[in-house]
Amino acid sequence: MSKSVEEITLNDGTSLPVIGLGTYGLNGNAGASAITSAIDIGYRLIDTAYNYENEGTVGEAIRRSTVSREELRITSKLPGRYHEYDNAVTRIQESLYRANLDYYDLYLIHWPNPKQDHYVEAWQALIDAKRWGLVRSIGVCNFLPEHLERLEKETGVLPSINQIELHPFFNQEDQRKWHEEHNVKTESWSPLARANAVLQNETLQQIANVHNKTISQVILRWHHQLGSIPIPKSASPERQLENISIFDFSLSDREMNLIAELTRPDGRNKNQDPAEYEEF
Ligand SMILES: NC(=O)c1ccc[n+]([C@@H]2O[C@H](COP(=O)([O-])OP(=O)(O)OC[C@H]3O[C@@H](n4cnc5c(N)ncnc54)[C@H](OP(=O)(O)O)[C@@H]3O)[C@@H](O)[C@H]2O)c1
Repeated sequence: MSKSVEEITLNDGTSLPVIGLGTYGLNGNAGASAITSAIDIGYRLIDTAYNYENEGTVGEAIRRSTVSREELRITSKLPGRYHEYDNAVTRIQESLYRANLDYYDLYLIHWPNPKQDHYVEAWQALIDAKRWGLVRSIGVCNFLPEHLERLEKETGVLPSINQIELHPFFNQEDQRKWHEEHNVKTESWSPLARANAVLQNETLQQIANVHNKTISQVILRWHHQLGSIPIPKSASPERQLENISIFDFSLSDREMNLIAELTRPDGRNKNQDPAEYEEF
């Protein structure tokens, strides 16, 4: 079965579906089958990264799929060890070769690594890659407002997307507000908090019961109503379908407020604060 997912417009005039598929851990033949299944079900936005070592798997899934390349939105990400300008340009090209694609729809800097202090160079490489047609839209992940402000000050270009850790235990209210005020769209990584205790939460279960939905569906609907694009990962066709079936109900203001109360300062899954944490 296939449903068409609505899209939202980014600050550069391109558009993205309001939900996508995460692919961390989807590799090889099983990974390609899982991604092809998601495309068959209706996913059009696919999130990979150089460091997931599965850009090739995503490319293979696209080749197996009957959906045309133009209908898909493929995202990849630049690793922290390649932030210097020349390295960044070469790695974007390498990312394309790995997936056997002519262009990515969205290319992101994976982590700011502020202690290394090369993320502005990396951003300049993404700006140029967009100008050369290697990528259609550019953005970042895990950038704090201070990092975003610096990009704008030094290059005049703000990202179209900031992909951040976001789930009911860590709802990133201030960061989302900054994005809204500056017309940067939010994408939610680990939108289901990697299926941790959130999937047994009593408040969420009660809300799910009211709507005759699962907790995962309530959480993904909550992301959607916050205006963020969730990219849940699932290897299972049943759960892929469950996760995308969130457009036939809505949460009330009261339910949104109840979910907002579940957030906590130490709610990150693995304590990966971008001010300190680095990934290469
Ligand atoms: N930019 C970054 O720094 C960054 C960091 C982390 C992740 N990401 C991206 O974000 C994507 C999603 O995040 P994530 O993979 O960390 O976590 P997630 O999507 O929150 O959770 C994935 C886990 O939830 C399970 N699951 C999925 N749907 C379910 C359902 N309906 N019911 C019960 N369990 C369910 C999956 O198992 P099954 O596969 O068995 O269904 C898997 O174990 C990643 O795959 C990656 O593309 C980006």
